[in-house]
Amino acid sequence: MRHLITLADLTPVEIDRIFSITEDMKNKFQKGLREPLLPGRVMALLFEKQSLRTRVSFEAGMTHLGGSSLFLGPDVGFGRRESIADFGRTLSEYVDVIVVRANCHQTVVDLAEHCSCSVINGLTDFAHPCQAMADLYTIREVAGPLQGRTLAWIGDANNVVRSLAVGCGKVGIKLVMATPEKYRFDDQTLAWLKREVPDLELTVTADPVEAVGDALVVYTDVWASMGQESERKTRRRDFADYQVNARLMSHAQKGALFMHCLPARRGEEVTDEVIDGPTSIVVRQAANRMHAQKGILAWMLGAKA
Ligand code: CP
Ligand code: NVA
Repeated sequence: MRHLITLADLTPVEIDRIFSITEDMKNKFQKGLREPLLPGRVMALLFEKQSLRTRVSFEAGMTHLGGSSLFLGPDVGFGRRESIADFGRTLSEYVDVIVVRANCHQTVVDLAEHCSCSVINGLTDFAHPCQAMADLYTIREVAGPLQGRTLAWIGDANNVVRSLAVGCGKVGIKLVMATPEKYRFDDQTLAWLKREVPDLELTVTADPVEAVGDALVVYTDVWASMGQESERKTRRRDFADYQVNARLMSHAQKGALFMHCLPARRGEEVTDEVIDGPTSIVVRQAANRMHAQKGILAWMLGAKA
């Protein structure tokens, strides 16, 4: 039984295997084939925060695989009615896998510790491993082998880039981050990355122009993540020079791809001309959430694919 709490839980070989399963299933899906690899399996989606992509892509994907899903919102009283341990022990008697989106990363760690079924992190303040898996799969699909490529991250050192950093380290992508000093990875994250992905090539700068210079991919995310709403005004000011706009993209290589995990705050971290521009792959990226997660589910729940 396996969990996916951060991408540190997967080896490079396992990531590659999941990508192969994903590719096979996506090709079949595009021909109208939906192989029911997980008949009768049940997935719970336990969400403390809002979601469009993660929730719907998991639900749709599990339906394609012949299983079913249960969305568990605030009415189950997670974290309020009983201990996380009792909640996890009980829920895992009913379902095969729990996808959990939690305010606090520790909640997911604690839940997994007490579950007898697999637990997948569907986003915490610390990590978003399913996003990173779909993103790496998308880059591979659009641009071919990942080893030696460069991804430029412009903005906050948040959950999404923390997961991308682990993923990049595992597949050999160089990560260049342009982030104001105050918003960079803390020492704990840097120590964790050093431990989990010692081979990661990470460069940090304050200059977005410098960061995009060699990049195949320019990636950004909101300046204030869920749970940081009260900091929005300050962050809008602190990140004002970090907008991904046509001027910044003009310093990247010709044809550099633009990525964003979505939802975006258009006019803040990215302009319409970039997110809707010819090299933006944000919609394919969102679509691949479903395909990559089907790959994760099929791999994790032991289906032969
Ligand atoms: N990218 C992402 O996780 O989107 P949602 O918050 O809509 O699930
Ligand atoms: N960093 C964002 C990602 C949303 C998918 C957040 O946590 O709100």
